[in-house]
Amino acid sequence: MSPIELRSDTFTLPSEAMREAIARAELGDDVFGEDPTVNRLQETAAVLMGKEAALFVPSGSMANLASLLSHCQRGDEILLGDRSHVFVYEAGSSAAVGGLHPHILPNEEDGTIDPERIEAAVRADNPHFPPTRLLVLENTHNRCWGSPLAPAYLDRVRELAGRLGLPVHVDGARIFNAAVALGVAPAELARGFDSVSFCLSKGLGAPVGSLVCGSQGFIRRAHRMRKQLGGAMRQAGFLAAAGLYALEHMVDRLAEDHAMARRLAEGIAAIDGLATEPARVRTNILFLRVTDGRLTPPALVAACAERGLRFLPERDGRMRMVTHYGLTMADMDRALAILREVMAAA
Ligand SMILES: Cc1ncc(COP(=O)(O)O)c(C=O)c1O
Repeated sequence: MSPIELRSDTFTLPSEAMREAIARAELGDDVFGEDPTVNRLQETAAVLMGKEAALFVPSGSMANLASLLSHCQRGDEILLGDRSHVFVYEAGSSAAVGGLHPHILPNEEDGTIDPERIEAAVRADNPHFPPTRLLVLENTHNRCWGSPLAPAYLDRVRELAGRLGLPVHVDGARIFNAAVALGVAPAELARGFDSVSFCLSKGLGAPVGSLVCGSQGFIRRAHRMRKQLGGAMRQAGFLAAAGLYALEHMVDRLAEDHAMARRLAEGIAAIDGLATEPARVRTNILFLRVTDGRLTPPALVAACAERGLRFLPERDGRMRMVTHYGLTMADMDRALAILREVMAAA
């Protein structure tokens, strides 16, 4: 029996139909702007996000970095959450490559950053301070339970950013999960924000690729940044075809991933010695803890891996599980049976 892979939704593999779309892709040299499939993907992405233009890039990390570099100059300050992907997991690229000064604000448990803290963090125009040039939001928020940012919260940030003249970039790696969970169009979640990035290679099941979306002028700058970062690709239509297939066929099914995560969370909450918070599980990510001294998180992860269940220990004592395409409800029940067996034997 194949292992149940809950380490990340990046483990998704392309379906047969997606592989066929890849094989049939019309190709050209995208560095010359002549790959028709890439062009179609970019046009589709821009429409879906309600923006003027979009740019195909190899990864979510490059999408974020190219966006930040397109908004800011060296020495500028960016406001971002202390649990954000950009701050925690992108190798400090905005500082290392872009010379940007990260100003970290606490993420609440639901992935938001308190608007009052944002307002207080914006610097006065004074030669002692780096100019505050950008706010970065993350929707859904990976390290905060995959929480979708609520439309009412986004309204508050739009009002604040508009009043302060502060541009906003949304790391929407999983914005389609947010849209499905909230029952709103992705363009509504991106509305009023200056740029949004999203990933094709997570729950949407494509092998590679992310999009950056924004105004024409912003995308022109991002295009140059992509070149500087070495992310310009040639016959990338093979990858874009997978992305187009994903946008047409893989979005609505994200609700299944969310239902699987809920089933897991409810099952885990009933296992003696484990704890999670089912009410926080709105999309495809959940965290659990061991509540007694029976097993350390790495020991639990290792014992489950031996039995064919894979998930990740975090540095803060939590463990993370992510549901995705390729898994079934039966897999969730098998995962719960393995967890029960390991805890009973500990
Ligand atoms: C919220 C978020 N942003 C950005 C990324 C980066 O994507 P990539 O792994 O394609 O660089 C990830 C990856 O997991 C993510 O979870």
